[in-house]
Amino acid sequence: MSRTVLMLPGDGIGPEIVSEAEKVLHKVNDQFSLGLRFESGLVGGAAIDETDSPLPDETLEKATRADAILLGAVGGPKWDSLPMAKRPEKGLLGLRSNLELFANLRPAILYPQLASASSLKPEVVSGLDIMIVRELTGGIYFGQPRGVRELESGERQGYNTYAYTESEIRRIGRVAFEAAQQRGKKLCSVDKANVLEVTVLWREIMNDLCREYPDVELSHMYVDNAAMQLVRAPKQFDVIVTGNMFGDILSDEAAMLTGSIGMLPSASLNSEKQGMYEPCHGSAPDIAGQGIANPLATILSAAMMLRYSLNEEKAAEAIEAAVSNVLDQGLRTADIMSEGAKKVSTREMGEAVLAAL
Ligand code: IPM
Ligand code: MG
Repeated sequence: MSRTVLMLPGDGIGPEIVSEAEKVLHKVNDQFSLGLRFESGLVGGAAIDETDSPLPDETLEKATRADAILLGAVGGPKWDSLPMAKRPEKGLLGLRSNLELFANLRPAILYPQLASASSLKPEVVSGLDIMIVRELTGGIYFGQPRGVRELESGERQGYNTYAYTESEIRRIGRVAFEAAQQRGKKLCSVDKANVLEVTVLWREIMNDLCREYPDVELSHMYVDNAAMQLVRAPKQFDVIVTGNMFGDILSDEAAMLTGSIGMLPSASLNSEKQGMYEPCHGSAPDIAGQGIANPLATILSAAMMLRYSLNEEKAAEAIEAAVSNVLDQGLRTADIMSEGAKKVSTREMGEAVLAAL
């Protein structure tokens, strides 16, 4: 049975980091006889330049057929002045919504080798292992109505809608409770229920669901407090579940606790476990093309892909062990560089992971 993986390098550092992850995938494909077939496609700014659309039909068709997708990153200053509907980010958001990838898993794990790379004290972050479950296809990112309108006064007003249906809350809640069951059995739901009705409903549904998962301890936290607690005492968290925008913000914050956002992978899954896998970081246009980006978040995203969408746990673990091995060897890209370590390029880091496999 052959399974298809679609590679979507995208923009900025995307092509550089995806190419390293692709080599790693080819190697485990051979080593573990996975029978994976690889395709590639255009998305984001790269797609706009070629086809005038951030998500060409051809890419969407390939994505729909693929068993899993590995995406680099989208966006950059070149396309920043385009109208919202034509921007590179629409390519990414369009893939998420068309494939109904509602469950975004963003693990923030501190590799012991990188404790000194965190801006927080080692004792605050050592052993950190948090899973952020972010709702990805609803909330204020997709709510209608939205736009910029002219008021009677002649002044313009920008507006978006923050809305969640019960079923949207319930399905992301289930993913989070199940993730907690597999881990430390603690779930913290993050909302703004002191101000926003939509999150009053969110909290009510989470409490409701909790009865079905008696082994999981559920707590609730307002998002402002959660942002503070993440830098004050991050190890109090096991699994965090939250809506689309709060999850966007808190996952960047959590990523930084681990030393560099260049280390953090993510998985976006639908109810059939079809998934898109991408590093949490963006396209980093400022360093694109210089060969200094950290490919590890993308390589670790490939490992998540093997685990969650392709059911190849052994191959996933092999990649994760190889990453840990190169860190043990003291190899570091610029973003995680520390004294006494050996600074390597994007390609050298990729080659080192290949060699460790
Ligand atoms: C992320 C990114 C995206 C988001 C952007 C690029 C649209 O920040 O995946 O976290 O906001 O979801
Ligand atoms: Mg983000």
